[in-house]
Amino acid sequence: MTAMSNATLTADHIVQLGKAFRASKALFSAGELGVFSALAKGPRDLEELRIEVGVSERGARDFFDSLVALRLLERDGAGRYRNTPEADLYLDRDKQTYIGGELDHFNKRGYPHWHSLTAALKTGKPQSVASAGNYFLDVYSDQSVLETYTEGMTAGARLVAPAIATKFPWHQHRTVVDIGTSQGGLPVEIARAHAHITGGGFDLPPVRPRFERYVERHGLSERLRFHAGDFLRDPLPGAEVLIIGRVLHNWDLATKLMLLRKAHDALPSAGALIVYERMIDDGRQISAAGLLASLNMLIMTDGGFDYTPADLMGWMRDAGFRNLRSERVTNELSMVVGTK
Ligand SMILES: C[S@@+](CC[C@H](N)C(=O)[O-])C[C@H]1O[C@@H](n2cnc3c(N)ncnc32)[C@H](O)[C@@H]1O
Repeated sequence: MTAMSNATLTADHIVQLGKAFRASKALFSAGELGVFSALAKGPRDLEELRIEVGVSERGARDFFDSLVALRLLERDGAGRYRNTPEADLYLDRDKQTYIGGELDHFNKRGYPHWHSLTAALKTGKPQSVASAGNYFLDVYSDQSVLETYTEGMTAGARLVAPAIATKFPWHQHRTVVDIGTSQGGLPVEIARAHAHITGGGFDLPPVRPRFERYVERHGLSERLRFHAGDFLRDPLPGAEVLIIGRVLHNWDLATKLMLLRKAHDALPSAGALIVYERMIDDGRQISAAGLLASLNMLIMTDGGFDYTPADLMGWMRDAGFRNLRSERVTNELSMVVGTK
Protein backbone atom coordinates (compact mmCIF):
# COMPACT_ATOMS: atom_id res chain seq x y z
CA MET A 1 0.00 0.00 0.00
CA THR A 2 1.51 3.38 -0.98
CA ALA A 3 1.52 6.55 1.13
CA MET A 4 -0.69 8.07 -1.57
CA SER A 5 -3.50 5.51 -1.15
CA ASN A 6 -3.19 5.58 2.67
CA ALA A 7 -4.03 9.28 2.53
CA THR A 8 -7.48 8.42 1.11
CA LEU A 9 -8.28 6.04 3.97
CA THR A 10 -10.05 7.37 7.04
CA ALA A 11 -10.71 5.83 10.42
CA ASP A 12 -14.21 7.35 10.55
CA HIS A 13 -16.13 4.10 10.19
CA ILE A 14 -14.01 2.34 12.81
CA VAL A 15 -14.30 5.20 15.29
CA GLN A 16 -18.05 5.36 14.74
CA LEU A 17 -18.44 1.63 15.45
CA GLY A 18 -16.28 1.89 18.54
CA LYS A 19 -18.51 4.55 20.05
CA ALA A 20 -21.86 3.21 18.86
CA PHE A 21 -22.70 2.07 22.41
CA ARG A 22 -22.85 5.70 23.60
CA ALA A 23 -25.67 6.50 21.20
CA SER A 24 -27.49 3.27 22.12
CA LYS A 25 -27.23 4.04 25.82
CA ALA A 26 -28.44 7.64 25.33
CA LEU A 27 -31.52 6.23 23.58
CA PHE A 28 -32.06 3.60 26.31
CA SER A 29 -31.75 6.20 29.11
CA ALA A 30 -34.18 8.54 27.34
CA GLY A 31 -36.66 5.65 27.22
CA GLU A 32 -36.08 4.72 30.87
CA LEU A 33 -36.57 8.33 31.96
CA GLY A 34 -39.74 8.74 29.89
CA VAL A 35 -38.41 11.62 27.77
CA PHE A 36 -40.42 10.67 24.67
CA SER A 37 -43.66 10.07 26.57
CA ALA A 38 -43.28 13.45 28.30
CA LEU A 39 -42.73 15.25 24.99
CA ALA A 40 -45.62 13.36 23.36
CA LYS A 41 -47.84 15.53 25.59
CA GLY A 42 -46.36 18.69 24.10
CA PRO A 43 -43.10 20.65 23.68
CA ARG A 44 -41.09 21.52 26.81
CA ASP A 45 -38.19 23.88 27.41
CA LEU A 46 -34.98 22.64 29.03
CA GLU A 47 -36.05 23.35 32.61
CA GLU A 48 -39.55 21.92 32.23
CA LEU A 49 -38.30 18.74 30.56
CA ARG A 50 -35.42 18.27 33.00
CA ILE A 51 -37.71 18.52 36.03
CA GLU A 52 -40.46 16.37 34.52
CA VAL A 53 -38.14 13.42 33.73
CA GLY A 54 -35.89 13.84 36.78
CA VAL A 55 -32.50 14.77 35.28
CA SER A 56 -30.06 16.87 37.32
CA GLU A 57 -28.89 20.23 35.95
CA ARG A 58 -25.35 19.20 35.10
CA GLY A 59 -26.11 16.69 32.34
CA ALA A 60 -29.51 17.89 31.18
CA ARG A 61 -28.59 20.24 28.34
CA ASP A 62 -25.95 17.90 26.87
CA PHE A 63 -28.31 14.93 27.20
CA PHE A 64 -31.30 16.53 25.47
CA ASP A 65 -29.10 18.15 22.80
CA SER A 66 -27.43 14.76 22.19
CA LEU A 67 -30.90 13.39 21.50
CA VAL A 68 -31.40 16.26 19.03
CA ALA A 69 -28.10 15.41 17.31
CA LEU A 70 -29.14 11.75 17.22
CA ARG A 71 -32.36 12.82 15.43
CA LEU A 72 -34.65 11.61 18.21
CA LEU A 73 -35.67 15.12 19.35
CA GLU A 74 -35.94 18.52 17.65
CA ARG A 75 -35.29 21.92 19.33
CA ASP A 76 -36.96 25.05 17.99
CA GLY A 77 -35.66 28.65 17.96
CA ALA A 78 -37.24 29.30 21.39
CA GLY A 79 -35.29 26.38 22.88
CA ARG A 80 -38.31 24.08 23.19
CA TYR A 81 -37.80 20.36 22.67
CA ARG A 82 -40.23 18.08 20.84
CA ASN A 83 -40.10 14.47 19.56
CA THR A 84 -39.20 13.79 15.96
CA PRO A 85 -42.20 12.22 14.17
CA GLU A 86 -40.56 8.75 14.38
CA ALA A 87 -39.78 9.08 18.10
CA ASP A 88 -43.32 10.28 18.75
CA LEU A 89 -44.86 7.31 16.92
CA TYR A 90 -42.59 4.53 18.22
CA LEU A 91 -41.25 5.69 21.59
CA ASP A 92 -44.28 7.10 23.41
CA ARG A 93 -45.36 4.44 25.92
CA ASP A 94 -48.99 5.45 25.55
CA LYS A 95 -49.23 4.63 21.84
CA GLN A 96 -50.19 1.26 20.29
CA THR A 97 -47.13 1.59 18.06
CA TYR A 98 -44.66 1.74 20.99
CA ILE A 99 -41.52 -0.36 20.39
CA GLY A 100 -39.59 0.75 23.46
CA GLY A 101 -40.22 -2.64 25.11
CA GLU A 102 -37.65 -4.17 22.79
CA LEU A 103 -35.15 -1.37 23.52
CA ASP A 104 -35.69 -1.96 27.23
CA HIS A 105 -34.93 -5.64 26.65
CA PHE A 106 -31.71 -4.75 24.78
CA ASN A 107 -30.74 -2.39 27.58
CA LYS A 108 -31.51 -4.58 30.60
CA ARG A 109 -30.63 -8.00 29.20
CA GLY A 110 -28.67 -7.71 25.96
CA TYR A 111 -26.26 -4.93 26.92
CA PRO A 112 -24.87 -6.47 30.14
CA HIS A 113 -24.57 -9.91 28.53
CA TRP A 114 -22.69 -8.57 25.51
CA HIS A 115 -19.93 -7.65 27.95
CA SER A 116 -19.11 -11.38 27.76
CA LEU A 117 -18.88 -11.70 23.97
CA THR A 118 -15.15 -12.42 24.04
CA ALA A 119 -15.63 -15.14 26.65
CA ALA A 120 -18.48 -16.64 24.58
CA LEU A 121 -16.27 -16.64 21.48
CA LYS A 122 -13.36 -18.27 23.30
CA THR A 123 -15.37 -20.95 25.05
CA GLY A 124 -18.31 -21.46 22.66
CA LYS A 125 -20.45 -21.51 25.80
CA PRO A 126 -23.49 -19.37 26.65
CA GLN A 127 -22.79 -16.56 29.11
CA SER A 128 -26.31 -15.94 30.34
CA VAL A 129 -27.79 -19.17 31.45
CA ALA A 130 -28.30 -19.64 35.18
CA SER A 131 -30.66 -22.61 35.38
CA ALA A 132 -29.38 -25.88 33.96
CA GLY A 133 -28.61 -24.59 30.53
CA ASN A 134 -32.21 -23.55 29.71
CA TYR A 135 -32.34 -19.94 28.62
CA PHE A 136 -36.12 -19.69 29.03
CA LEU A 137 -36.20 -21.15 32.54
CA ASP A 138 -33.57 -18.52 33.30
CA VAL A 139 -35.71 -15.75 31.79
CA TYR A 140 -38.98 -16.84 33.40
CA SER A 141 -37.66 -17.54 36.91
CA ASP A 142 -37.82 -13.81 37.70
CA GLN A 143 -41.15 -11.95 37.23
CA SER A 144 -39.50 -8.66 36.31
CA VAL A 145 -37.32 -10.36 33.65
CA LEU A 146 -40.40 -12.21 32.36
CA GLU A 147 -42.15 -8.86 32.02
CA THR A 148 -39.24 -7.10 30.27
CA TYR A 149 -38.73 -10.09 28.00
CA THR A 150 -42.36 -10.51 26.92
CA GLU A 151 -42.82 -6.74 26.44
CA GLY A 152 -39.63 -6.79 24.36
CA MET A 153 -40.95 -9.62 22.20
CA THR A 154 -44.27 -7.83 21.71
CA ALA A 155 -42.49 -4.68 20.55
CA GLY A 156 -40.46 -6.71 18.05
CA ALA A 157 -43.55 -8.57 16.81
CA ARG A 158 -45.32 -5.22 16.36
CA LEU A 159 -42.78 -4.24 13.71
CA VAL A 160 -43.16 -7.44 11.71
CA ALA A 161 -46.93 -7.90 12.15
CA PRO A 162 -48.25 -5.39 9.57
CA ALA A 163 -46.19 -7.04 6.82
CA ILE A 164 -47.18 -10.60 7.77
CA ALA A 165 -50.82 -9.51 8.08
CA THR A 166 -50.73 -8.19 4.49
CA LYS A 167 -48.16 -10.34 2.61
CA PHE A 168 -49.84 -13.70 3.32
CA PRO A 169 -53.15 -14.78 1.68
CA TRP A 170 -55.18 -14.90 4.91
CA HIS A 171 -58.48 -14.99 2.96
CA GLN A 172 -57.59 -18.58 1.97
CA HIS A 173 -57.38 -19.73 5.61
CA ARG A 174 -59.49 -19.63 8.78
CA THR A 175 -57.19 -20.55 11.68
CA VAL A 176 -53.69 -19.67 12.87
CA VAL A 177 -51.53 -20.66 15.83
CA ASP A 178 -48.33 -18.77 16.57
CA ILE A 179 -45.72 -21.14 18.07
CA GLY A 180 -43.58 -19.44 20.75
CA THR A 181 -46.03 -16.55 20.72
CA SER A 182 -44.96 -14.73 23.91
CA GLN A 183 -47.80 -12.22 24.62
CA GLY A 184 -49.43 -12.89 21.24
CA GLY A 185 -48.36 -9.62 19.59
CA LEU A 186 -48.46 -11.17 16.12
CA PRO A 187 -51.76 -13.15 16.24
CA VAL A 188 -53.43 -10.08 17.75
CA GLU A 189 -52.41 -7.95 14.75
CA ILE A 190 -53.43 -10.68 12.28
CA ALA A 191 -56.84 -11.07 14.00
CA ARG A 192 -57.32 -7.27 14.02
CA ALA A 193 -56.59 -7.11 10.29
CA HIS A 194 -58.68 -10.19 9.31
CA ALA A 195 -62.02 -10.50 11.10
CA HIS A 196 -62.60 -14.12 9.97
CA ILE A 197 -59.37 -15.47 11.55
CA THR A 198 -59.43 -17.37 14.89
CA GLY A 199 -56.73 -19.35 16.68
CA GLY A 200 -54.15 -18.33 19.25
CA GLY A 201 -50.65 -18.82 20.50
CA PHE A 202 -48.57 -21.66 21.96
CA ASP A 203 -45.93 -21.03 24.60
CA LEU A 204 -44.55 -22.18 27.95
CA PRO A 205 -47.05 -22.09 30.86
CA PRO A 206 -45.51 -19.06 32.68
CA VAL A 207 -46.40 -16.89 29.67
CA ARG A 208 -50.16 -17.64 29.88
CA PRO A 209 -51.24 -14.73 32.14
CA ARG A 210 -49.34 -12.21 30.03
CA PHE A 211 -50.82 -13.58 26.77
CA GLU A 212 -54.33 -13.59 28.19
CA ARG A 213 -54.03 -10.04 29.54
CA TYR A 214 -52.66 -8.73 26.23
CA VAL A 215 -55.33 -10.47 24.12
CA GLU A 216 -58.09 -9.29 26.45
CA ARG A 217 -56.79 -5.71 26.26
CA HIS A 218 -57.37 -5.93 22.51
CA GLY A 219 -60.88 -7.38 22.92
CA LEU A 220 -59.89 -10.66 21.22
CA SER A 221 -60.35 -13.24 24.00
CA GLU A 222 -63.23 -14.84 22.07
CA ARG A 223 -61.06 -15.44 19.01
CA LEU A 224 -57.55 -16.11 20.31
CA ARG A 225 -56.67 -18.58 23.03
CA PHE A 226 -53.49 -19.69 24.73
CA HIS A 227 -52.14 -23.23 24.26
CA ALA A 228 -49.72 -24.05 27.08
CA GLY A 229 -47.00 -26.56 26.31
CA ASP A 230 -43.36 -27.38 25.79
CA PHE A 231 -42.49 -27.77 22.13
CA LEU A 232 -39.41 -29.81 23.02
CA ARG A 233 -41.68 -32.55 24.43
CA ASP A 234 -45.25 -31.98 23.25
CA PRO A 235 -46.82 -32.09 19.78
CA LEU A 236 -47.78 -28.70 18.33
CA PRO A 237 -51.44 -27.65 18.20
CA GLY A 238 -53.11 -27.91 14.81
CA ALA A 239 -54.32 -25.00 12.65
CA GLU A 240 -54.49 -24.21 8.95
CA VAL A 241 -51.54 -21.85 9.38
CA LEU A 242 -48.71 -22.18 11.88
CA ILE A 243 -46.18 -19.43 12.50
CA ILE A 244 -42.73 -19.90 14.02
CA GLY A 245 -41.16 -16.48 14.47
CA ARG A 246 -37.79 -15.70 16.06
CA VAL A 247 -37.90 -19.14 17.68
CA LEU A 248 -35.76 -21.45 15.53
CA HIS A 249 -32.67 -19.28 16.09
CA ASN A 250 -32.78 -20.10 19.81
CA TRP A 251 -31.97 -23.76 19.12
CA ASP A 252 -29.32 -26.06 17.69
CA LEU A 253 -29.79 -27.68 14.29
CA ALA A 254 -31.29 -30.95 15.59
CA THR A 255 -33.96 -29.01 17.53
CA LYS A 256 -34.68 -26.70 14.58
CA LEU A 257 -35.29 -29.76 12.38
CA MET A 258 -37.43 -31.43 15.05
CA LEU A 259 -39.63 -28.30 15.36
CA LEU A 260 -40.10 -28.09 11.58
CA ARG A 261 -41.11 -31.77 11.49
CA LYS A 262 -43.57 -31.20 14.36
CA ALA A 263 -45.07 -28.24 12.49
CA HIS A 264 -45.47 -30.40 9.39
CA ASP A 265 -47.17 -33.14 11.45
CA ALA A 266 -49.59 -30.63 13.03
CA LEU A 267 -50.72 -29.03 9.76
CA PRO A 268 -53.61 -30.34 7.64
CA SER A 269 -52.97 -31.06 3.97
CA ALA A 270 -52.43 -27.70 2.13
CA GLY A 271 -51.81 -26.00 5.48
CA ALA A 272 -49.04 -23.41 5.58
CA LEU A 273 -46.04 -22.71 7.81
CA ILE A 274 -44.65 -19.17 8.06
CA VAL A 275 -41.17 -18.83 9.59
CA TYR A 276 -39.85 -15.33 10.18
CA GLU A 277 -36.47 -14.36 11.53
CA ARG A 278 -33.76 -11.72 11.33
CA MET A 279 -32.16 -13.85 8.61
CA ILE A 280 -28.60 -13.66 7.36
CA ASP A 281 -28.24 -12.91 3.64
CA ASP A 282 -27.40 -15.99 1.58
CA GLY A 283 -23.91 -14.64 0.82
CA ARG A 284 -23.28 -14.03 4.57
CA GLN A 285 -21.68 -10.61 4.07
CA ILE A 286 -24.36 -7.91 4.08
CA SER A 287 -26.73 -8.60 6.94
CA ALA A 288 -24.84 -7.33 9.98
CA ALA A 289 -28.16 -7.43 11.90
CA GLY A 290 -28.64 -11.16 11.19
CA LEU A 291 -25.01 -12.05 11.89
CA LEU A 292 -24.95 -10.07 15.14
CA ALA A 293 -28.28 -11.68 16.12
CA SER A 294 -26.52 -15.02 15.70
CA LEU A 295 -23.72 -13.88 18.03
CA ASN A 296 -26.45 -12.89 20.47
CA MET A 297 -27.61 -16.51 20.35
CA LEU A 298 -24.01 -17.60 21.05
CA ILE A 299 -24.01 -15.47 24.21
CA MET A 300 -27.55 -16.26 25.34
CA THR A 301 -28.31 -19.86 24.37
CA ASP A 302 -26.81 -23.31 24.39
CA GLY A 303 -26.49 -24.08 20.66
CA GLY A 304 -28.72 -21.44 19.00
CA PHE A 305 -27.69 -19.70 15.78
CA ASP A 306 -29.22 -17.64 13.00
CA TYR A 307 -29.34 -18.75 9.37
CA THR A 308 -30.02 -17.78 5.78
CA PRO A 309 -33.26 -18.19 3.78
CA ALA A 310 -31.47 -20.85 1.70
CA ASP A 311 -30.56 -22.81 4.88
CA LEU A 312 -34.15 -22.63 6.10
CA MET A 313 -35.69 -23.62 2.78
CA GLY A 314 -33.42 -26.68 2.68
CA TRP A 315 -34.50 -27.72 6.20
CA MET A 316 -38.18 -27.10 5.41
CA ARG A 317 -37.93 -29.11 2.20
CA ASP A 318 -36.41 -32.00 4.19
CA ALA A 319 -39.30 -31.76 6.67
CA GLY A 320 -41.77 -32.21 3.79
CA PHE A 321 -42.76 -28.61 2.93
CA ARG A 322 -43.38 -27.59 -0.67
CA ASN A 323 -43.98 -24.35 -2.62
CA LEU A 324 -41.32 -22.57 -0.60
CA ARG A 325 -40.91 -18.85 -1.03
CA SER A 326 -38.88 -16.25 0.80
CA GLU A 327 -39.80 -12.60 1.21
CA ARG A 328 -38.37 -9.62 3.08
CA VAL A 329 -40.93 -8.36 5.65
CA THR A 330 -39.09 -5.50 7.36
CA ASN A 331 -35.75 -3.81 6.92
CA GLU A 332 -34.17 -6.62 8.96
CA LEU A 333 -36.58 -9.57 8.98
CA SER A 334 -37.53 -12.06 6.28
CA MET A 335 -40.18 -14.76 6.16
CA VAL A 336 -40.19 -18.11 4.42
CA VAL A 337 -43.57 -19.71 3.66
CA GLY A 338 -44.10 -23.35 2.77
CA THR A 339 -47.14 -25.56 2.38
CA LYS A 340 -47.80 -29.18 3.30
C1 LIG B 1 -37.40 -15.19 20.99
S1 LIG B 1 -39.04 -15.44 21.57
C2 LIG B 1 -40.02 -15.06 20.13
C3 LIG B 1 -41.38 -14.54 20.49
C4 LIG B 1 -42.28 -14.18 19.29
N1 LIG B 1 -42.50 -15.29 18.40
C5 LIG B 1 -41.74 -12.97 18.56
O1 LIG B 1 -41.27 -13.07 17.44
O2 LIG B 1 -41.78 -11.88 19.16
C6 LIG B 1 -39.11 -17.22 21.71
C7 LIG B 1 -40.40 -17.71 22.31
O3 LIG B 1 -40.35 -19.16 22.35
C8 LIG B 1 -40.91 -19.58 23.59
N2 LIG B 1 -40.39 -20.90 23.98
C9 LIG B 1 -39.12 -21.19 24.35
N3 LIG B 1 -38.99 -22.49 24.65
C10 LIG B 1 -40.22 -23.04 24.49
C11 LIG B 1 -40.72 -24.36 24.65
N4 LIG B 1 -39.92 -25.35 25.06
N5 LIG B 1 -42.03 -24.58 24.38
C12 LIG B 1 -42.84 -23.55 23.98
N6 LIG B 1 -42.40 -22.28 23.80
C13 LIG B 1 -41.11 -22.03 24.05
C14 LIG B 1 -40.47 -18.52 24.56
O4 LIG B 1 -41.23 -18.52 25.74
C15 LIG B 1 -40.61 -17.25 23.72
O5 LIG B 1 -41.88 -16.68 23.84
